[in-house]
Amino acid sequence: MKPKSYLIESLIGLGALLVVVSALGYYILNEPARILNAQRDVIAAQLDDAMTLYAENCSVCHGLNGEGIGATPPLDSAVLRTMPYDEIYKTISRGRYQTAMPAWAIEDGGPLSDYQINELVTLILYGDWTETGNRTINLGFAPLIPFTTEPDPVLLAEIANLPDGSTLQTAVQLFAAHCVACHGADGLGTAIAPALNDPAVRQKTAEDISRIITYGNTGTLMAGWNNVLATDEINALTSLIERWDEIPLGTIPAPNVPIPVTEESLALGGQLFAANCARCHGPEGQGTPRAPSLNVKSFLTQTSDQAIQQIITLGVPGTAMPSWGDRMSDAEIQAIVGFIRQWEPTAPEVAVLTRPGGGGPPWLRNDTTNVNPLPSTNRPVQPTEQITSLLDWRILILIGAVLSLAFALIAAGTFSLR
Ligand code: HEC
Ligand code: HEC
Ligand code: HEC
Repeated sequence: MKPKSYLIESLIGLGALLVVVSALGYYILNEPARILNAQRDVIAAQLDDAMTLYAENCSVCHGLNGEGIGATPPLDSAVLRTMPYDEIYKTISRGRYQTAMPAWAIEDGGPLSDYQINELVTLILYGDWTETGNRTINLGFAPLIPFTTEPDPVLLAEIANLPDGSTLQTAVQLFAAHCVACHGADGLGTAIAPALNDPAVRQKTAEDISRIITYGNTGTLMAGWNNVLATDEINALTSLIERWDEIPLGTIPAPNVPIPVTEESLALGGQLFAANCARCHGPEGQGTPRAPSLNVKSFLTQTSDQAIQQIITLGVPGTAMPSWGDRMSDAEIQAIVGFIRQWEPTAPEVAVLTRPGGGGPPWLRNDTTNVNPLPSTNRPVQPTEQITSLLDWRILILIGAVLSLAFALIAAGTFSLR
């Protein structure tokens, strides 16, 4: 009997050896691929970080998709992709002297670590700029400010009658093409740049004004325009800034460019609308007795994204329309604007709730027989969400119970064997 069991034992041993050897072979054969995959994972993680860093720090000047804005060069650039790593690294960490490009390294007074700057260089060399643009939108850092606008043709024509009117006309067109995004409609300023149509600025000498336009103001958003504009164009802008009080208001209107959206931002906008706005404006924005329809052609075609964003942010004082600016981030409000804008192609010409003859708010219809009763709670219930989340909890509890049971059985078995 003994030799037979010996044979079985050695067969088992041989089998085990085979298993170990083939596992080792498998491991050795796959090691290079594994290392490569691990390296890819590291680069993917760095690119992921870098897209957020770009959105937060660089998109305001270099654009949504790294396409460059105004006088700021693109970072999505074939030339940059052939530049040596160290040179790009140096530009980002130390900035470019006498330009708007600031120094970013901590040792040069900036906010970014060496590791973060390395990640940004990786983005410039290998990144996907469409994905970077989506990240910028989702985080709410899309340079919202559109960059150009069309001067009012009638007022622009009138300017020709002023002394040296053609120079002013040129300047108005240049301002509408290059400067309005930051310095605002009619040069009256925005949150990010001061008014140029201002008595205090008119006090400055022409030399001072043209020097700032030419070379910019280091460390601010004001870039130097000497690479983009010819000297006579800069002179024309200087004389516009000195003589702005002669230009009629309304000549350079505010730009109107749609807020960019992504799949994620539309989904977020839909959720936020359902949770916060539907109870007054209706689930499809069709309006209720409490608040007017938003899903209607007249409103959507006449109201720019910037205007809708402002209404939501500030509310309508003296009405039931709350201000949401202190409860939601800009990114969230922009997501809602994108969601509302989606209705435009299919919006009815006339609000479903027709405007009345008298009494009550203007959108309240006279005939209330077809008006849905208002929900009794303030917070709209989303049944599917609740069920799935309940199911998740049940599954988790079930898995937990099975695991602890198995654990208890193994423990009991081990002890009873001893
Ligand atoms: C305030 C505006 C501003 C911001 C913010 C900014 N840049 Fe720049 N950047 C510039 C300007 C202007 C230049 C062009 C400088 C010049 O004329 O050489 C530039 C140039 C560059 C260049 C060299 C491009 C080339 O073609 O030579 C790189 C690389 C760069 N920036 C990266 C970044 C990164 C990365 C960030 C974010 C961490 C950033 N910049 C943020 C304004 C800005
Ligand atoms: C990316 C935003 C941006 C753009 C585009 C821009 N500027 Fe500026 N500009 C600024 C900021 C910010 C300042 C304030 C800088 C400071 O704090 O010193 C400024 C300052 C100025 C000043 C000095 C104002 C003062 O009170 O001393 C002038 C003049 C000026 N800009 C002209 C222009 C002209 C002309 C254009 C278009 C060719 C232009 N800017 C485009 C952001 C911008
Ligand atoms: C408590 C009710 C209420 C809630 C909640 C509410 N609104 Fe309003 N909203 C109103 C009323 C009332 C008006 C009309 C104000 C007026 O008379 O001009 C209004 C007006 C508006 C307008 C301007 C419509 C127009 O025709 O000019 C927009 C845009 C708007 N709301 C968006 C929103 C969004 C987005 C939300 C959710 C974040 C929201 N509202 C939540 C009551 C509400």
